[in-house]
Amino acid sequence: MTNPLRERVQVLAADITKLRVEAIINAANNSLLGGGGVDGAIHRAAGAALLEECRTLGGCDTGAAKLTRGYKLPATYVIHTVGPVWEGGTHGEPELLAACYRNCYELAREHRIRTLAFPAISCGVYGYPVRHAARIAVAETLRALTAIETIDEVTFACFGEEVFWAYERALGAAI
Ligand code: AR6
Repeated sequence: MTNPLRERVQVLAADITKLRVEAIINAANNSLLGGGGVDGAIHRAAGAALLEECRTLGGCDTGAAKLTRGYKLPATYVIHTVGPVWEGGTHGEPELLAACYRNCYELAREHRIRTLAFPAISCGVYGYPVRHAARIAVAETLRALTAIETIDEVTFACFGEEVFWAYERALGAAI
């Protein structure tokens, strides 16, 4: 028998800025004023109005999350979260990364967002080993899908083979 939770999660090799979901998640920094990687791509695709709204938010703590509109993106909303910088794994990184996912899901619950897509938060510039990060992403996602019935589908938008297979493996091991 297939697990019904499994049908609400997909792993996709995709550019997150192209996805037609209600909310995409941005792996931002504490300033929320843009940067490189997925953050840069999201700001470029959304247009200058996104930066204007971000300026009103007063930054974001590591592990927290804030919601804006999506402007020129196909997504209605962007949920900005700030992952931890990897410092060997003994500086609270797993807890902070889990908090990113939990706080994004909390915003999805509050705003009744049905479809979301996540990039591999912290796995680029911030250096989090993707194998470990994918396990946390999957565990927090399965927990959220169990608790929040209004979420229909979560997509892990993976850039590159290594990231894609890390998520496939983490998901396969969890359900
Ligand atoms: N769609 C999906 N995933 C992407 C895309 C995209 N268009 N572009 C990159 N990725 P990173 P971090 C992947 O570095 O590690 C920024 O400068 C990328 O391959 O974007 O959380 C912020 O402002 C990797 O797998 O985010 C912060 O300063 C994943 O997204 C800092 O980087 C995350 O890589 C945050 O670093």
